[in-house]
Amino acid sequence: MAQKILVTGNLPKEVMDLLNKRYEVEAQSEDRPMERQAFLAGIADKEGLLAMITDAVDEELLSRAPRLQMIANMGVGYNNIDVGAATRRGIPVSNTPGVLTDATADLAFTLILAVARRVVEGDKRVRTGQFTFWAPFLFLGREVSGKTLGIIGLGRIGQAVAQRARGFNMQILYHNRRRMEPAKEQALQIEYADLDSLLTKADFVSLHIPLMEETRHFMGPRELALMKPTAYLINTSRGPVVDEKALLAALQNKQIAGAGLDVYEQEPTLTPGLTEMDNVVLLPHVGSATLETRIRMATMAARNLIAGLSGERPPNQVNPEVPPHHRKEK
Ligand code: DGY
Repeated sequence: MAQKILVTGNLPKEVMDLLNKRYEVEAQSEDRPMERQAFLAGIADKEGLLAMITDAVDEELLSRAPRLQMIANMGVGYNNIDVGAATRRGIPVSNTPGVLTDATADLAFTLILAVARRVVEGDKRVRTGQFTFWAPFLFLGREVSGKTLGIIGLGRIGQAVAQRARGFNMQILYHNRRRMEPAKEQALQIEYADLDSLLTKADFVSLHIPLMEETRHFMGPRELALMKPTAYLINTSRGPVVDEKALLAALQNKQIAGAGLDVYEQEPTLTPGLTEMDNVVLLPHVGSATLETRIRMATMAARNLIAGLSGERPPNQVNPEVPPHHRKEK
């Protein structure tokens, strides 16, 4: 009998074909998150789960999934999954690293340019018929080329942002849990800085850290206060790494010049007041949202799921301590 899987997002046809060939599939067919009740009901008889980053795969859900053998997340970030709880049940969990690096770095750079050059404000001005003349000191933004970029978290995406910044002749500082070898720093033309000096020197601070207990509110009132009043904060990682209320206050008090945000603390709800600010560019979590990247992510998640359900090690397993198919029955 075919194994049963639950796919909680609307995936490209070629990926669904791959899954339909092998499994009995229950899938979300609309572009919206699966309702929690449907998710809880749907998981009850499934061996496999292909989850979206908006799904909470927590104790409650896992306790209702006695047959579950594999969880493949469609996303590089997997803070939506209680990996500890899955590991205790012997369930491998996988993510989709690498395939969204360029798309996300492109978007971080889009936000840098958009907020510094007031692209969204300018677009609004033209559309509302307020572009009536040109003047030398009207609608000025800030230069990006040649400025100092501070990258916090130098994983794949942070490095890809650095690569783009080199093309803009930026001085690149980075802060990371582990410092790179000096030879690698030299090759990447980046300089290590402790957090406080990065924050005090950077014209743009771009966040590329995963959400974990230790990184919640990584950017709080103290860190925002260290930034220059002419500096911008860019976040394409996860919303809760920034204390959004503190950020709003920093923007309102002109403690910093602006922010470019793709992610929010209580996504998709925003801290009231944020949308009223002109000095922010706000995007709806679209870091990896290109057709090419989403097809790659869906394919990678499906391949991980297939490997896990075939008793093989999923190529992108994030809890490698769980051996293939050694699920402890509850
Ligand atoms: C991820 O993969 O974690 C992204 O946030 C999805 O865009």
